[in-house]
Amino acid sequence: MEFVKLGRTGLKVSNICLGTMQFGWTADEATSHDLLSHATELGCNFIDTADIYSRWAEGNDGGVSETIIGNWLANGGVQRDQVVLATKARGPMGDGPNDSGLSRGHLMNAVDASLRRLQTDYIDLYQTHAPDDDTPLDETLRALEDIVRSGKVRYIGCSNYPAWKLMKSLWISDVKNIVRYDSLQPHYSLVKRAEFERELQAVCLDQGIGVIPYSPLGAGFLTGKYRRDTELPDSSRAQRIKDQYMNEKGFAIIDKLEEIGNAHDATIAQTAIAWVIANPAVTSAIIGANSRQQLEDTIKGGSVTLSAEEKTQLDEVSSWQ
Ligand SMILES: NC(=O)c1ccc[n+]([C@@H]2O[C@H](COP(=O)([O-])OP(=O)(O)OC[C@H]3O[C@@H](n4cnc5c(N)ncnc54)[C@H](OP(=O)(O)O)[C@@H]3O)[C@@H](O)[C@H]2O)c1
Repeated sequence: MEFVKLGRTGLKVSNICLGTMQFGWTADEATSHDLLSHATELGCNFIDTADIYSRWAEGNDGGVSETIIGNWLANGGVQRDQVVLATKARGPMGDGPNDSGLSRGHLMNAVDASLRRLQTDYIDLYQTHAPDDDTPLDETLRALEDIVRSGKVRYIGCSNYPAWKLMKSLWISDVKNIVRYDSLQPHYSLVKRAEFERELQAVCLDQGIGVIPYSPLGAGFLTGKYRRDTELPDSSRAQRIKDQYMNEKGFAIIDKLEEIGNAHDATIAQTAIAWVIANPAVTSAIIGANSRQQLEDTIKGGSVTLSAEEKTQLDEVSSWQ
């Protein structure tokens, strides 16, 4: 496993991060603990969650993924200081008007609730999950500054921010001399390029922001199990994948991944991950898995190195310009 500095910070993370949105949704607690243990055994030191995971699953109030991770840590899954724990706040954690968003009040409550569920006294990377247009950016950043100073959080990051909002946040941090975003978590893969590449990529490279893309496999499409003439696989996400990605361009990307992967003895999933981390702006790809088999397959993508020519071929077949 390769370790990379997160942006301009001194924090080193594995180039594959284990995403945990599946925990308590499509992976039960025992499977989730096995995935956590196996990922760390394979050298992954980076785990991403969010307070809201997986509130959309029937019977879940939210916080389930954090609770599962907290139980794993408490049961000796791994020594706390051997993993970099990232979580997020912003989504609704209740029905009240202040149970969501990026206000000072909600963030102060949210960070304490996450710490309780994670059974730890610090979070390595605390991320604002998405913008909150009701709260001024400087209110959010001042609250995060206080949270970092209290020792509850070590670094802050943001997710799903447009380039102008990230840039304005960096400007506020600079002029007010307060904590700044050191990472961005964008949606990014061979089937979702424009949102990141249009403007965010240049901001991150220029400002030394670590980039940790989510859904690098297009939620499972870029694994080869969605093909032209086969039945949809048994996945809760299959219908959305069909609607979004199962078209001629998507299948041409799969064909090219297969051809290039064969030259490396790599699977389609591994080659799709290799393309994401070949981008010099990217620090670590956040993968999701429902089984040990999926994890073992995908994680090896972190060790596949594409040639410049192979990367160009994949850039061309997935072009959005
Ligand atoms: N910041 C945000 O707004 C945001 C949004 C979404 C996700 N995330 C984070 O990013 C993480 C990853 O997102 P994602 O789950 O969409 O990522 P992904 O890696 O693109 O897709 C993962 C899914 O693909 C399928 N899969 C994975 N490996 C496979 C393999 N080797 N062979 C066949 N199928 C395989 C599994 O789904 P099936 O078994 O159902 O096919 C798995 O759940 C999440 O866990 C979360 O931490 C963040």
